[in-house]
Amino acid sequence: MRFPKNFLWGAATAAFQIEGAWDKDGKSPSIWDALLPGHSKDGSTGAVTCDHYYRFREDVARMKELGLKSYRFSVSWPRVMPAPGIINQKGLDFYRTLVEELTKVGIEPLLTLYHWDLPMWAYEKGGWENEDTARWFEEYTAAVVDALSDKVRYWITFNEPGGFVTAGYKLGSHAPFRQEPEKMPAISRNVMLAHGRAAKVIRALAKQPAQIGLALDGGGVYPMTGDEDSLRLAREATYAGNDPGSFAWWADTIILNCPPKALAALLSDADRDIICQKPDFYGSNLYQCNQVSGLTDEEVLRRHPGLPTGVFGLPLTPKAMYYCAKWNYARYGLPVMMTENGFAQRDWVCVDGKVHDPQRIDFMTRYLLELERAMDEGVPVLGYQYWSLMDNLEWSEGFYPRFGLIYVDFETQERIFKDSADFYREVIATDGARLHQTADPVPLGGLEPRTHS
Ligand code: BGC
Repeated sequence: MRFPKNFLWGAATAAFQIEGAWDKDGKSPSIWDALLPGHSKDGSTGAVTCDHYYRFREDVARMKELGLKSYRFSVSWPRVMPAPGIINQKGLDFYRTLVEELTKVGIEPLLTLYHWDLPMWAYEKGGWENEDTARWFEEYTAAVVDALSDKVRYWITFNEPGGFVTAGYKLGSHAPFRQEPEKMPAISRNVMLAHGRAAKVIRALAKQPAQIGLALDGGGVYPMTGDEDSLRLAREATYAGNDPGSFAWWADTIILNCPPKALAALLSDADRDIICQKPDFYGSNLYQCNQVSGLTDEEVLRRHPGLPTGVFGLPLTPKAMYYCAKWNYARYGLPVMMTENGFAQRDWVCVDGKVHDPQRIDFMTRYLLELERAMDEGVPVLGYQYWSLMDNLEWSEGFYPRFGLIYVDFETQERIFKDSADFYREVIATDGARLHQTADPVPLGGLEPRTHS
C-alpha cells in the first residue's frame, strides 16, 4: 500500500540537545545544564549545541525544504518556569514564534512537555522524589497550553519515562547520575501523577481538541521465528512489565489501569484517578529489540557475533517495528505514532563536500517497510518522526554519535543535508513509494536470520 496522504512524516528533536542559550532571556539551569560537566564522555555541555534558539528560523526553512509534515520538539521547562510559580514570558515567546513559523509553512507541531530537562530548582527540592514536582509540572503545562494550544494539537507529556528513570536513578548514566534503584517505583508514581495532571489540564484548557500521548520506550522482545511458541514467548517477555525500564510498566498502568505489582502497592485509588488519563495515541520511540527463544536472561539477551549495529552497538532489528506496532495496537487499542526511530554513526563531510550515509538510508528503508507491513495488516499509524532532524548533543555521549538527517558542524554551525535527507524527501514526496525501489529486499541477517518471515 501507499502511506496515506495525511500521514505525519516528520523528524524529532529535544530542547536540551539542540537549543543552546542555556542561560539566556531568563532561563534557569536544568539538571542537564548543571550536572553534565564531569559526566560527559567528550567534555561537551549544552551551552551552544546546535544554537537552535537563535537559528530556528533557518531550521524551519530546512524542514520545509525536506517536505516534513510534522516536527516533534520539546519545550524546556526551566525556560518557561525558571523558578517556582514564575512564568518567563520570553521563554514562551520563543516557542510561540517557533510554532507560528511551523504552522505558517504547513508543518504540524508535535510538542513534548518533558524531554528530561528537569529544572535544577525542582531537583533541589527533591525532584521526582517529591510529589510536589507533579504539581509544578501541572502549572508549567497550564502556561504552555495557554500560550500555544491555538496552534498545537499534539501533546506528548513525557519522553521515555522508563529511559530517564532507569538511566538517571539506576545506571547513573543520565542526569541526575544516581544509582538508587530502590527509589524507582516511588519516582515512577510521581512521574505518572505528573502525566495525569498534565493530561487533565491540557484537556481542560486547550483551545482546540487535543491529541495527547506519551513517547514510551519502544523495543520489547520479538520472536526468533514466526512459529506460535516463539511468538507467545516474545509477547510474554515484552509485556512482563515488572521493571520501570519496560514500557508495559508505564502503559499498563496509565492506559489499562493495571499496574505491575511493585507499583500497585504504592498507588491509592485517588492516585489512580489522576494517573489513568487515557492517551489518544500510543507514542513509541523504537530503535531496537531483543530476540527471545526462552525467558531466561541469557535467552532474552541473545547476541550474534558481528551483527549489524550503529555506534552504540545497538543492533538493527527492523522487524521490531512491525511487532511493536502490531502488538501495542492489539493490547492498548490506540492508534500508533512512531515518535522516534533513527540510526547513529560517525558521519563526516566527504571530499566531494557531501555527507554520504547509505547505512542510514538502508536502516530507514527496512524499518519503514516493516511499519508499512503493520499498516497493511490494519494497524492505524498516524506518523513517523525520524530521530533526529539534525546531529545534536547525545546527552552524556557527547557530539560523536550523529543521528541527524542534517549534518551539523558544531564549530561553525554550518548545516548540510546528508544523502538520507534527500532520500527522506523522496519518500515523503512519493507517499512511501520510494521505499519500494528495491523490488525484492534482501534480509538483514544478524539478529534477523534469513529464515525469519
Ligand atoms: C531519546 C533521545 C536520544 C535518542 C538516541 C531516545 O531515547 O529520546 O533524546 O537522543 O534516544 O539515543
